[in-house]
Amino acid sequence: MNRLKGKIAIITGASQGMGETHARAFVGEGAKVILTDLNEERGQTIAAELGKENALFVKQDVTKPEDWKNVIAQAESKFGPVNVLVNNAGIIGPLAQTIELTEEQYQKVIEINQNSVFYGMKYTLPSMIKAGVGSIINISSVAGIIAVYGFPNLAYMGSKFALRGLSKAVAVEYASKNIRANSVNPGVIRTPMVTAASADDGNSAVPLIPLGRLAEPSEVSNLVVFLASDESAYITGTEQVIDGGLSII
Ligand SMILES: NC(=O)c1ccc[n+]([C@@H]2O[C@H](COP(=O)([O-])OP(=O)(O)OC[C@H]3O[C@@H](n4cnc5c(N)ncnc54)[C@H](O)[C@@H]3O)[C@@H](O)[C@H]2O)c1
Repeated sequence: MNRLKGKIAIITGASQGMGETHARAFVGEGAKVILTDLNEERGQTIAAELGKENALFVKQDVTKPEDWKNVIAQAESKFGPVNVLVNNAGIIGPLAQTIELTEEQYQKVIEINQNSVFYGMKYTLPSMIKAGVGSIINISSVAGIIAVYGFPNLAYMGSKFALRGLSKAVAVEYASKNIRANSVNPGVIRTPMVTAASADDGNSAVPLIPLGRLAEPSEVSNLVVFLASDESAYITGTEQVIDGGLSII
């Protein structure tokens, strides 16, 4: 119930899918949560359900540094210095082979999935330094661990591999400030992203998964809660793979 007591956490992409589930799990464990997303209506509804004393929704485009400054200002004014950042917002982008992928399509995926994580860390780190402690959790993917066969998506894979490097770089730079950074690398999780990108709700991936099933978002939340909590105080710069064994083979 209180594994995240004293934690003040920003979770991006929190209006649906895994971000929403993380926000609910965080409040369930005693955290104060700032939910951000482009989808204001749904985000406000979730924040209201979680209670004004626990949750604040701030509309944000994660690709806009000005929006990050606003999120930090609002978070600090309502709850105090931020000590957890979950960079979760992301898009899958077009499934297209490299020759067909346009420069604009490529850059859009890189801007949302990768550059936003730089902006998020850059603007949240000063708040974490004020807090004297921090945990940054960057949501990568199994597609940041292996090149997934039959998933033509160079921009997505490139961005998700990059998050592992960004996490390690910050982990080394800010360890002396008691700030940790790890990436989380989910396999195929039942969310609106997977439903929208697949004709069969992702079930065609099941034969590739040794544990023989997709995961529920709450299974990833269990890991994200652990990384946000002091239970993981000695874990930094790592990749946390949660994929039912998909990347073993
Ligand atoms: N679902 C999976 O199987 C899976 C697997 C591996 C990694 N991931 C990663 O997990 C994260 C969450 O995925 P999901 O499946 O819950 O996705 P989702 O599509 O269900 O939710 C993503 C949320 O991000 C928001 N968002 C998109 N662009 C944004 C922007 N520019 N600014 C602010 N918010 C924005 C969307 O509005 C949406 O609410 C993503 O980074 C995704 O790449 C998902």
